[in-house]
Amino acid sequence: MVKKTLIAATAISLSAMALSACGSDSGGDDSASDSGKLTMGFAQVGAESGWRTANTTSIQDSAKDAGIDLKFSDAQQKQENQIKAIRSYIQQKVDVIAFSPVVETGWDAVLEEAKRAGIPVILTDRSVDSEDTSLYKTFLGSDFVEEGKKAGQWLVDNAADADVDGDGDINVVQLEGTTGSAPAIDRGEGFADTIAADPKIEVTASQTGDFTRDGGKQVMESFLQSEDGIDVVFAHNDDMGLGAIEAIEAAGLVPGKDIKIITVDAVHDGMQALADGKINFIVECSPLLGPQLMDLAKKVVAGEDVPERVVTEETTFTQEQAVEALPDRQY
Ligand code: AHR
Repeated sequence: MVKKTLIAATAISLSAMALSACGSDSGGDDSASDSGKLTMGFAQVGAESGWRTANTTSIQDSAKDAGIDLKFSDAQQKQENQIKAIRSYIQQKVDVIAFSPVVETGWDAVLEEAKRAGIPVILTDRSVDSEDTSLYKTFLGSDFVEEGKKAGQWLVDNAADADVDGDGDINVVQLEGTTGSAPAIDRGEGFADTIAADPKIEVTASQTGDFTRDGGKQVMESFLQSEDGIDVVFAHNDDMGLGAIEAIEAAGLVPGKDIKIITVDAVHDGMQALADGKINFIVECSPLLGPQLMDLAKKVVAGEDVPERVVTEETTFTQEQAVEALPDRQY
């Protein structure tokens, strides 16, 4: 274990049993690695989407490549499981904790425990809504507001085509990500701000599909029953968009033509649907955060300065661009 001062956290009561309940694949011993390697505890959101699976692979592979001993847990999209996992990492005296917060709020207490224990925390992918920014060293991830804006801008630019029923109004239904999560809040906000430029575009219904394919399918089924004249679906991720495609096809409509679809992520299945003409536009959100995370972790543990915010570089894809990009897509 990397040498550092450790101050015992007072509020640690988690048992090894509780950790295994949150799906950790790491050892339940009371101290971090004896191998001399830097040890990272990573509390993942879950396995809700293709994006998340690719993100987990990136983190696990990069830890191996960087010679970092990774303790990994899957919170099954429950905040309480993530908090338990973080407490367990504090108890195990890892060198650094990284996590992707399932929702934005409710982290201060556990982050204060990590701070008191002298264990630095890195936020990856999603941020927390905390006034005390000293509770974490840096935040690595996408600009979700910008992603929502890019989705909205495509719609504004393609408004004529998007008025599928030609009635002069563009009725959008929105499939939101997990309620209270940074990407759901920020993508919704960026999209709403941008489409406000065109009074013809209106979000007529909006509901969470929890970032899952099943959730997207179920919500879309109910929108197809309750909403008249849907022109566009804005899904906060590919998986919900793919679920919506299933619901649209089951209703005898043609996704991408009878109803335009905009999504975020650009995972392989989403890109395939875009290339097939079933999705119309995808805003990329890169899950390949592992290499940068390991680099930041080494610096943070060595006491080096790191930027407060590291924003992931991302692009967008039209149908033609998806056809071109698909053969080399890594995830
Ligand atoms: O936080 C990133 C989001 O979480 C991705 O867009 C989504 O697919 C995932 O579940």
